[in-house]
Amino acid sequence: MFQLAGVAAWMYSGAGHSQEVAAVPFRHYPLDPVDAANFRQKLFVPSNNGPFGVLDVVGPLKIRVTAASFPILPGPKTPIPSPFLLYQTEHAGKAYQNPILRIESGSRFTASLDNALPEPTIIHWHGLHTPAAMDGHPVNTIAPGGRYEYDFTVRNRGGTYWYHTHAHGLTAKQAYNGLASFFLVDDDDQRRLAKALDLRLGVTDLPLVIQDKQFDAQGKLRYQPNAQESMMGWLGDVVLANLTPNAVQTVTPRTYRLRLLNGSNARIYRLAFVTGKKQLKFTVIGTDGGLIERPETVAEAFLAPGERLDVLLDAGQVKPGTDIFLKSLAFDPMENEGPAMPGMAGMEHGAGHAAPGVASSRLPLGVEFNVLKLSVTAGERIVAKLPATLSKVSAIRLQGATQRKIELSLENMRFLINGRTFVMDEIAFDAKRGAVEVWSISNPTLGMPHPMHIHGFSFQVLERLNSPAQVSSSARFDKGRTAGDLGWKDTVLVWPGETVRIAIDFTHDFPGDQTYLLHCHNLEHEDAGMMINFRVQG
Ligand code: C2O
Ligand code: CU
Ligand code: CU
Repeated sequence: MFQLAGVAAWMYSGAGHSQEVAAVPFRHYPLDPVDAANFRQKLFVPSNNGPFGVLDVVGPLKIRVTAASFPILPGPKTPIPSPFLLYQTEHAGKAYQNPILRIESGSRFTASLDNALPEPTIIHWHGLHTPAAMDGHPVNTIAPGGRYEYDFTVRNRGGTYWYHTHAHGLTAKQAYNGLASFFLVDDDDQRRLAKALDLRLGVTDLPLVIQDKQFDAQGKLRYQPNAQESMMGWLGDVVLANLTPNAVQTVTPRTYRLRLLNGSNARIYRLAFVTGKKQLKFTVIGTDGGLIERPETVAEAFLAPGERLDVLLDAGQVKPGTDIFLKSLAFDPMENEGPAMPGMAGMEHGAGHAAPGVASSRLPLGVEFNVLKLSVTAGERIVAKLPATLSKVSAIRLQGATQRKIELSLENMRFLINGRTFVMDEIAFDAKRGAVEVWSISNPTLGMPHPMHIHGFSFQVLERLNSPAQVSSSARFDKGRTAGDLGWKDTVLVWPGETVRIAIDFTHDFPGDQTYLLHCHNLEHEDAGMMINFRVQG
């Protein structure tokens, strides 16, 4: 394999040796997250108003989606504002942009959405179990000047959910440009944990959305996927934690809860906490749909677009004065396992930024880089006593379950689900209300990893078959599962060659037929039609 001077040659340069390529140093640039010395910006931590402020939902909300600006990159004196899309609202006398919505499980959620963008949009409540009409299906997209009324009961258990735009063909661009935030659901289990560990939202309980973006020379967000990037997914090269590039957070020697959300369009992270060369242990307490049964200690976890991982990190396991880096470790992106794509000849020479057909990100998928620096300062050493049990997760009863095959494929440079591309009003299959189904989602060896997401219902991961070594090496649970597969999920990463079996219980209390989506949460794939409708017959 040739050596790569830049980034360009990596993606389509040959067959399946990306691990080797990932280890090759590449050129450095300002805010390069590979360079630990760049980590100097104070992490943005939400308060109770303003951008990403925590909004405790009491009564109806009026949300206006609008084109605005937001300061992201550091400038000579103040951060440089970039065009940005925002959900704006006022609540209890306070103004919010992209609020972190927080609500009690079982309560009613009422919101109107006004579209002040020059293009269609809609909000989808990712992970929430709502009637189809409240789900933000793209069929309910509202035109500029239009309004959509949401009114539903929050039926989900406590957990870290999120919301984002879902206008078909525009989801990737709109979400990338700002239209996403957290939707936190509280319940008794959550409160019990918070009390036991003295977890306070915004202090010792930190929502942390991880995203990768590109910026132009003026410091403005750039989103210009070429044909290859539209096909494979758009990657950034500046890594943001809560929209802070190269972020630092000061912590004391105690336990913190980090609610990690991969809000990136296409990047998969292999997360680990590292001090020097040493990987620290951390504890998984929750996944997409809330707390898992017991705390599980791990050393690393993959996090794909759309997924959440709730973790505890004891910052007191290192000496004060030490830095802990939340990193994405090197991995094989498995994006190039098949024969070379047509029209890719000669690419190994072109290291140019943004040349046609060439990946414009300077941070290839699968290289190691830093996400966040935690600076441990002196302070009282508090040793947390983790509760032995966190919550109850009852296994879905599989007797009499309907078996269904979900086959991912690649044809004519397009990723398909069961041979289909998205058609707005076409139903790919029907499920029956109250039925349990077991889906075997299989990804061919040729292709790339796909984070598969289901609207409307949380599911349970039953089994991983034929997983790549980088996944099976940390599969400590039965049937090839990792800690990130435990509990209730709404998004699951399926690697090339892998089959993931999941169980879904289609019990609901909504009247009539309900149509939901199954799609890949690589947002470029979703927009390109790697999405189908399924109907739950009432
Ligand atoms: Cu977060 Cu249909 O997606
Ligand atoms: Cu969703
Ligand atoms: Cu995909």
